Amino acid sequence: MAVYQQVLTDDGFVKQEQLHFPFEERGLQFGDGIYEVIRIYNGHYYLLTEHIDRLYRSAKAIRLHLPFRKQDLCKQLLELLEVNHVRTDAKLYLQATRGSAPRDHAFPNAAINFYAYIEDLPRPTENLLQGVETITTPDVRWQHCHIKSLNLLPNVLAKQEAIDHGCFEAIFHNNGKVTECSSSNIYIVKKGIIFTHPETNQILHGCVRSKVKQFATSLSIPFVEKRFLLEDLSRADEVFLSSSTSEIMPVIKIDGYKVATGQPGALTKKLQHAYEQDAGIRD
Ligand code: PDD
Repeated sequence: MAVYQQVLTDDGFVKQEQLHFPFEERGLQFGDGIYEVIRIYNGHYYLLTEHIDRLYRSAKAIRLHLPFRKQDLCKQLLELLEVNHVRTDAKLYLQATRGSAPRDHAFPNAAINFYAYIEDLPRPTENLLQGVETITTPDVRWQHCHIKSLNLLPNVLAKQEAIDHGCFEAIFHNNGKVTECSSSNIYIVKKGIIFTHPETNQILHGCVRSKVKQFATSLSIPFVEKRFLLEDLSRADEVFLSSSTSEIMPVIKIDGYKVATGQPGALTKKLQHAYEQDAGIRD
C-alpha cells in the first residue's frame, strides 16, 4: 500500500526517506511510547478529535509530556493531508516515544520522538458485506489495555494465530470472560440487545466503539456495557467487531462454528449503514 511522501515529525514535515532514528530509541528498545491509527475517507479524517483526545489520555497514563497543544497538532495533521494531496481512503499512523537516549529503564532526559504518516487503505468492502471468521484465545495482556501503547506483542501473536487458522481476527478472553480482539472491540447481539465489555482498563476504549454506542441509542437499540462469556458468544444471534480500519464488521464464524445462520445479522447491517452515513462515505 502506498505511503505518502511527506511525514510530520517533531521537526516539521520531512520526506519519508529522511526519517532515521538512532538504535538507542525508547520505542525500539522498550516499546516506551504510544500511538494512534486514524481513518481517512476521501481525504478527510474521521473522528480526529476523539483520537487526539485518546492520544493525550494515553500520554498522561504513561507520564509522557507531549510538547504541543492539541489544537496545534490537529492543525498540523490537517496540513499533512494537504501537503500530500490526499484524496483517497487511507489511514494515518502516529506515534510518540520517550525519545532517544542510552539504554536505561529509568526515564531519560530526552525530547520525545514523534512522527505521523499517511498510507492508502481501501475499505474492506468484501469482508464488510460477507462477514469474517475468528478464533478465541486467552487474553495474556497487561492490566492497562486502555492505554494505546506500543507494547503489542500479545496482540501481534494473537493476530498471527488467527491468520494461521485462516481467520481475520482473534477474540481475547480472560478465563472465559470476553474482553476485546487483537485490534478491535467485540459485541454480541442477543434478543435485540447489544452487549459489549465495559470501558475498563481491560480494553481499549475504541473511538468506533463510542460511535456504535451513539448509533445504537439513536436507533433505539439497547446497548449494555457488561462482561459476557465465551458461551454467550457461541449462543449469540449476531456478533460483530469494530475498529478504525475494520469499521463495523460482521463475525460469521468463531472457532469454526457458525454464528446463528452464519450470515451477517440485521442489527449489524443497520449499524454499518449508520456508520457509513456518519463517516460521509460515498460509493
Ligand atoms: N486498533 N482494541 C484494540 C486492542 C485495538 O488495537 C483497536 C484499534 C481497537 C479499536 O479502536 P478504534 O475504534 O479507536 O480504532 C480496539 C488499531 C486500528 C490498530 O492498532 O491498528
